[in-house]
Amino acid sequence: DYPTIPLNDGKTIPQLGFGVWRLDEADAPRVVGAAIDAGYRHIDTAQGYDNEAGVGRAIKDASVSRDQLFVTSKLRNSHQGYDSALRSLDQSLERLGLDHLDLFLIHWPAPAHDRYVDTWKALIEARNQGKVKSIGVSNFLPEHLKRIIDETGVVPAVNQLELHPAWQQRDIREFHRDKDIQIECYSPLGGKDSKLLDNPLLVELGEKYGKSPAQVMIRWHLQQNLIVLPKSSKPERAVENFDVWDFTIESDDITRIDGLDRRDGKTLPQPNDNNELF
Ligand code: A2P
Repeated sequence: DYPTIPLNDGKTIPQLGFGVWRLDEADAPRVVGAAIDAGYRHIDTAQGYDNEAGVGRAIKDASVSRDQLFVTSKLRNSHQGYDSALRSLDQSLERLGLDHLDLFLIHWPAPAHDRYVDTWKALIEARNQGKVKSIGVSNFLPEHLKRIIDETGVVPAVNQLELHPAWQQRDIREFHRDKDIQIECYSPLGGKDSKLLDNPLLVELGEKYGKSPAQVMIRWHLQQNLIVLPKSSKPERAVENFDVWDFTIESDDITRIDGLDRRDGKTLPQPNDNNELF
């Protein structure tokens, strides 16, 4: 057991999860299996990652039972809309071999299509039916969050955002705190081809604490009560990224990492730029 974060719907979520973006369907059983063996109890996939069946295979073969795992998937943009969202959730459950998800997210608001409110209503219905325990969103700006809350009265449990030392999302964190929406951080190490992994400060702090820059970054997220979702296609890195429970970053050093923010004040990319992505 490792730390969990309480959600606004009474459920809890393991604070560290294994992200599987860009993991091939064929590699997923082995890599996700290794992550579960390493101790992860939270797996974050998406319809758009095209690897749900492989993740499902890993869950079926896992050394722990289904009820010890927290499984998230996300709705593909092209499946937005009330009926198609419900239909595609059923298809996700079938591919994963599960009778429910722990968390289901709208992957992007895709505001150009303006279907995210109806889609949110479908997720509320899916939760009422017990097919998902918790519901949330991803890549939503405060204006999108406000709209679904205003129109349904249901506050998402989480919003999953890109968040790492070089892009700390300071301008919207308070909004999430006020609404009791937990932030899940994707690309917590800076994403593909991250320059943060050899950032001099993170290397220095790694040496100080006897940890890698990746472990320092994950610890920085954990100490701010963020949910953190590092990904790796390499089992040994998955193991390394889970080995973060035996040290604490001193507050002065947290402040120094805070100083790495290079996108403070800038907003998320316009989600419609990414409509094609997932
Ligand atoms: P790989 O899959 O080849 O291991 P994130 O998207 O979570 O921010 O991660 C950024 C990249 O860093 C990933 O694409 C991953 O590539 C790589 N990575 C993950 N964990 C580590 C690690 N512990 N050390 C170095 N690189 C890592």
